Amino acid sequence: MRHLMSPLDFTPEELEKLFDLANDIEKSPEKYAHKCDGRILATCFYEPSTRTRLSFESAMTRLGGRVIGFSDANSSSAAKGESVSDTIRVISCYADICAMRHPKEGAPMVAASRSLIPVINAGDGGHQHPTQTLTDLLTIRSLHGSLSGYTIGLCGDLKFGRTVHSLINALVRYENIKFVFISPTELKVPDYVTDMLKEKGIAYEEVIKLEDVIGDLDILYMTRVQKERFFNEEDYIRLKDFYILTPEKLSLAKDNMLILHPLPRVNEISVELDDDPRAAYFKQARYGVYVRMALILTLLGLA
Ligand code: CP
Repeated sequence: MRHLMSPLDFTPEELEKLFDLANDIEKSPEKYAHKCDGRILATCFYEPSTRTRLSFESAMTRLGGRVIGFSDANSSSAAKGESVSDTIRVISCYADICAMRHPKEGAPMVAASRSLIPVINAGDGGHQHPTQTLTDLLTIRSLHGSLSGYTIGLCGDLKFGRTVHSLINALVRYENIKFVFISPTELKVPDYVTDMLKEKGIAYEEVIKLEDVIGDLDILYMTRVQKERFFNEEDYIRLKDFYILTPEKLSLAKDNMLILHPLPRVNEISVELDDDPRAAYFKQARYGVYVRMALILTLLGLA
C-alpha cells in the first residue's frame, strides 16, 4: 500500500508515467469512465477548500467511483475530540482511499501511519500540498513541453504558502532550474528551503520588486497572502496587496511566459489578465482533475 505525503514520494520516472496517464485521460476520458466502479474515496477536509476537495470528487466520479466525506471539522467527530488516528482507522472500514486536508502540519502523515487504505495529503498547514504540485508540474509539462530549463519566479507569500514549498521541492529534481523568489521581507521563503538550495548548488535570487525581474521569467507562479496563517490582522492588511499583477507589469514579461496560480485568487492578479494567452491558472485547475484521476488509479493499483 502506498500513500502520497510529499511530491518526492514519486521518483521523476514515476511522475512521468503519472503525467502520461493524466494526458491520456484528458485525451480519451471514456477509456477510464468505469475504472473505479465500486470504489469509494473519502474526502476528510478539516480546513476549507474549493479546488482540491471538488477536483478529487470530480476525479473519482469521472472514474465511476463514489465519494463520502466531510468538508468541515465541526461536522465530524473531531468536534467531539476524536483523534486523526482513530478517524482514519474508522474511515478505512468505509472507503478504499482517502484524501485528507488538515491545518496541522504532519496530520496526514499521522493518519497514513495508522491507515489501512492509501492516504493522500491534500494540504497540511503551511507544510506541503503535493497534489497541487502534481497539478502545477502537469500544467507546465503539458503547456511548455518539459520540466527542465526554466527560470521560475515565485511571488507573494513564500513563508506560509505550502504550494510554493512543495513546488520548489519537486522542481529541484529537474535540470537547469533557476528560482527567483519575489516577496516582502516578512514573507520570505523559509531558511530551510534556501539552505536546501545552497546544499544542492541550485541557483536562486531573492528580490522585492516584481517589475525588476518579470522580464527574465519563463514561469511566474503568483500566490495569495495566506490570511489564515497570520497571527496578527494588522500585518495581513499591510501585506495583502503588496503584489498585484496588472497589464502594465505584464507588458514587461516575455510573450510566452506562463502565469500560474494555485488559486484562490484574492487580489494579486488583475481580472483584466484572465483572457491573456499567458494566463494559465484556470487551465491549471482543469489539469488538477486529470492528475488526481491518474493518482487515484495509481494508488489503487488500477493504472
Ligand atoms: N489550490 C487549492 O488548494 O485550492 P483550495 O484551497 O480551494 O483547495
